[in-house]
Amino acid sequence: MNESNNFDDVLSSSPTTVISPILSSLVFGEIRKNERKISLQEFCNRLPQTISKKHYGKCSDRTKESDPLQNLLTQLEMSPKERERYQYISSTQNYTRNLISTDNQTYTLLLLCWNPNSESPIHDHPCDGCWMKVIQGAIREKRYIDTSKTKDGTTQKLIQTSDKVFNEEQVAYIDDSIGLHKICNEDQLAMSIHLYSPPIQKCRVWLSEDNAWNYCTKEMTNDSEFGVRL
Ligand code: SIN
Repeated sequence: MNESNNFDDVLSSSPTTVISPILSSLVFGEIRKNERKISLQEFCNRLPQTISKKHYGKCSDRTKESDPLQNLLTQLEMSPKERERYQYISSTQNYTRNLISTDNQTYTLLLLCWNPNSESPIHDHPCDGCWMKVIQGAIREKRYIDTSKTKDGTTQKLIQTSDKVFNEEQVAYIDDSIGLHKICNEDQLAMSIHLYSPPIQKCRVWLSEDNAWNYCTKEMTNDSEFGVRL
């Protein structure tokens, strides 16, 4: 493991018309047109119960829309006022991490503000799962797998497995069994809500996909917490 590279700069410290229910539920991450919207406040109130084993343990595939957390996130609609309270934008960072809510045990909820032409480094998620909802702009997610871990992996590169753009209202999900990812914003300022369960304090980051062994551990730091800049 190479701890000597400087990774600090790259991981920021920084309907109305009711359509066919079948059609509306086909696309993972698409908003369900007839679903009731909930405020950030209601979302946060319902989060602990949704995460609790009683409800969450029943979900066998979190990449599907039977995932209660994905459904809750899909319903979330942050008002401009709620957004204003948490959004902190810094021109000197790729993106900012703004803590909205946490119980320090089962979840962390963040608003990430992505500057134009910015990206996070490839990283893992040492938690049970990471859910992301785009609330402004479009965000590109590139996924990778680390073949150096597999028995017959002949290469030590990270292999890109997908490249997908998520638009406003879409929800994405990843955990380490799916792979690693990086997030890119190639356009105007973008914002996304990230839910980590349980909270993560650190993750592994790779500066290049060329060498799966060249990673380091990075502490996750916030730029603002509960609407207050740090
Ligand atoms: C982060 O939480 O800082 C990483 C966001 C991401 O790229 O998934």
